[in-house]
Amino acid sequence: MTDGSPPTWRMLQAEAVDGLRAGGVESPETEARRMVEEASGCTGTELVMALDEVAVERAAARLRSMIERRTAGEPLQYVLGSWGFRHLDLMVDRRVLIPRPETESVVDAVLAEIDRISATRQPVDVVDLGTGSGAIALAVASERTCTRVWGTDASEDALVVARGNLAGLGRAAARVRLAAGSWFEALPSSLRGGLDVVVSNPPYVDPSARLPDEVHDWEPHTALYSDSAGTADLDRIIAESPEWLRGDGALVCEHSPEQTAELVDRAAARFAEVEVRRDLAGRDRALVARRPLR
Ligand SMILES: C[S@@+](CC[C@H](N)C(=O)[O-])C[C@H]1O[C@@H](n2cnc3c(N)ncnc32)[C@H](O)[C@@H]1O
Repeated sequence: MTDGSPPTWRMLQAEAVDGLRAGGVESPETEARRMVEEASGCTGTELVMALDEVAVERAAARLRSMIERRTAGEPLQYVLGSWGFRHLDLMVDRRVLIPRPETESVVDAVLAEIDRISATRQPVDVVDLGTGSGAIALAVASERTCTRVWGTDASEDALVVARGNLAGLGRAAARVRLAAGSWFEALPSSLRGGLDVVVSNPPYVDPSARLPDEVHDWEPHTALYSDSAGTADLDRIIAESPEWLRGDGALVCEHSPEQTAELVDRAAARFAEVEVRRDLAGRDRALVARRPLR
């Protein structure tokens, strides 16, 4: 660029690495590559082949704006505008929580319950309470064709994002419905007592905890924090789910490892079987409670 000629993607990538490093970003090479992929529309070997091509001005401007946003502290996922969750590529922005890898392991626990139930009856009716970007609901619908899935959220803004992601889901979208409202209030009362699996990744962070700035300053607080040291929403979901589930149904809830003992106690008073699943880092992450006590 020094001679005034328009920059190639290789030059822009080097500029991105320098800009991100100077802005204190931890993995400037990896992030620069992700941004160049996004701005150029080329991934993997496609990008390698395109590195010496001149970038159109608008794409170069888009890359520079991404670098600016990232160095101002905005999470990479919002800057890119999309993020992977299991095999899905989901649109994400400040209206929704960024889908986390630990939630991918919660989906594994949900699929195990669906497989247990679908061996005796189908379709399997699943509700994802607090669906945010739609991550859990859409992954479940696309990975198990025997399901009918509801995704709910109290945030209308989040539901706009979930609807956008649903539109890109393909055939499985026909088995997904989205609804607004607080926890079970979003659902038609005709579903009471008829659900096979209730899953939720509710807000579960203690409001007095200090989350990293990149999380606290950018992600929706209604998706992160919950009263009673983080368990207020989990408590409500555990208390109300038995009346919505069938006799052999299951509740699967994401939670933080410190909450395990308290949540297991609460669930054991309402379900015949309770277990805790770990995430890939080996930390307690999902409460699985089966067969509500009547
Ligand atoms: C931790 S985020 C989970 C988002 C998504 N399910 C995921 O795993 O990435 C919690 C979600 O619960 C929603 N939420 C918070 N309070 C709620 C309520 N009372 N009823 C329904 N949804 C609620 C938030 O808007 C947010 O989308």
